[in-house]
Amino acid sequence: MAFYSEDLIEEVRNANDIVDIISSYVSLKRKGNNYFGLCPFHNEKTPSFSVTPEKQIFHCFGCGVGGNVIRFIMKIENLGFKEAIEFLAEKAGLVLPSNSENELSAPPEEIIKKELARKEMLEINKVAGRFFYDNIENSKMAKDYIAKRKISSKIVARFGLGFALDNNSLSRHLIEKGFKEENILATGLCGKSEKGFLYDKFKNRFMFPIFDIRGRVIAFGGRTLESSESMKAKGIPKYVNSPENIVYTKGKHLYGLNLAKKSNEKIKRILVVEGYMDVISPHQVGITNVVASLGTALTEAQGRLLRQYANEVVLSYDSDEAGQKAIMRGIDIMQSLGVPVRILQMNGAKDPDEYILKYGPERFEKLIDNSISPVQYKVDKIKKDYNFSDTSDKIAFLMKMADILSKVENSIERDVYIDKYSKDLNVGKEAIIAEIEKRTIRDNFKTKNWQSTRSIVTNKASKEDIPEKEKMILYLLTLKNFDVYEQLKQIYAANDIEDFKTKSLIKKLYNLYESGDIINKELMSLCETEEENNYFSEIVMNSTNFEANDALTATQSIIRKLEINKLQEEKNEIIKSFQAEVTEDKRRLLESRLNEINIKLAKK
Ligand code: UTP
Ligand code: MN
Repeated sequence: MAFYSEDLIEEVRNANDIVDIISSYVSLKRKGNNYFGLCPFHNEKTPSFSVTPEKQIFHCFGCGVGGNVIRFIMKIENLGFKEAIEFLAEKAGLVLPSNSENELSAPPEEIIKKELARKEMLEINKVAGRFFYDNIENSKMAKDYIAKRKISSKIVARFGLGFALDNNSLSRHLIEKGFKEENILATGLCGKSEKGFLYDKFKNRFMFPIFDIRGRVIAFGGRTLESSESMKAKGIPKYVNSPENIVYTKGKHLYGLNLAKKSNEKIKRILVVEGYMDVISPHQVGITNVVASLGTALTEAQGRLLRQYANEVVLSYDSDEAGQKAIMRGIDIMQSLGVPVRILQMNGAKDPDEYILKYGPERFEKLIDNSISPVQYKVDKIKKDYNFSDTSDKIAFLMKMADILSKVENSIERDVYIDKYSKDLNVGKEAIIAEIEKRTIRDNFKTKNWQSTRSIVTNKASKEDIPEKEKMILYLLTLKNFDVYEQLKQIYAANDIEDFKTKSLIKKLYNLYESGDIINKELMSLCETEEENNYFSEIVMNSTNFEANDALTATQSIIRKLEINKLQEEKNEIIKSFQAEVTEDKRRLLESRLNEINIKLAKK
């Protein structure tokens, strides 16, 4: 298994600027030397996620995650270390060697194990996908279903569609291929009976492999072939999906994105639909820029993924209530990520698959072109609830509309709607504008309050209960200043550090100073665990908390504080021993030492 050398890892890291990379996931604003944005790893309304281009690290003061660009990619793309390196290498156009020259001899055992399992599970999925595909040939049921849904054989092959037979043939096939039982079970394709036999979990279902962006099979969705009546009568679910595991996280992928990203539309517009067939049908008629969020609502992770490939997103969800809710959420998510979004409106069919079969691709393309803005969607939606010949209804509607328009940031867009609705409702523009202004002021006020709440939270999060001075030493050592190191090591041996996290990092830093390697070392790569990354990135990021900017002054100041600490401790000990019985000689000795200490302390 290929593991890359430190030099190579360093090269990949250097080729990927952290601000560039993170910007494609998080919208960042510059403040001073750092960038801030909303943390992609927890829910927040005000930004506590920061990135420093100078140090090439990120840290969230809200939830505590942090690290370098590799760590970021591992977390956000749900990749292992090696995969993250490959991902970043590809982004930067670097070719990674596959020979053993650059391989490191012994990566941590835990990592090897996980990487091997991940690799084998992907292989199992691939083999299973092929197996399901091959089953179609011998199954009349499957062939009939494909014909009924009007899917061409070319499309069956492109999407790797297949059929799961009503027996345990997949389990047998996977065992025969020699895959490890624990990995087979982990994919969720098979289960294990009490007697210890493997059995197939997907039976008699039409199979849709789910691909990741790189086209690897990470999961499956299986559709029953039963009619909706008998499905309901028997109480079986229409679709069954693979469980979450180390290769698949629900809500982090988009079905069809591996193909949609290749579509060469002039504007990079991506259509988001609900189901598998709503991706497949458009593809069949040449509309390839379609992805499905699988299940109803779009998640933030999916929104970020979309942002990487789309300049505009068109939401096309079912017209049922769940679909309408999903649209509202989709609008919020895409807008908060700064991606223009529109909503496709469809009548006469429940989803794109049905629409295309019924009315043909041209009419569907028209729907895409005619998709409407979020404002219009929201206003149209509330419009239905009011009767405009009734004055109080009309006013109530105006208030609701002002709520919606006050949130439109683009002033031209806002003006267009003010114009339109003042005409539609026969109300003066000024009245609408005045209502919108009222709301804007109210919102600004609220935002200010949020900010003050945030600073309290931030302070709390950065104040951990380990001694602040140890953190300071650790920070001072990251400055790569040999004078600082020389001064520190005089009074503080690495083993004197109490906090184990700090101690382990300080030990590593001391060693680097001793060997002289500190100069060229990327410090975040000293971190071995996620916990260590989170901890260290905060310390490095928090540099502004130090009293003195000048490294040496800061070092001297902390040494002074440490000495005061030591003297204070000794003083306390002496005072304590006075309370016990001591000989006259001993007492005199202690008194003179106490005197010395007091004089020293006074001088400090
Ligand atoms: P729909 O019920 O709208 O099905 O679910 P569909 O996509 O139109 O399916 P067909 O056309 O009848 O074959 C939309 C999506 O929600 C997920 C699936 O991803 C489905 O494509 N879903 C639905 C499930 O995961 N489980 C279910 O039981 C139903
Ligand atoms: Mn459908």
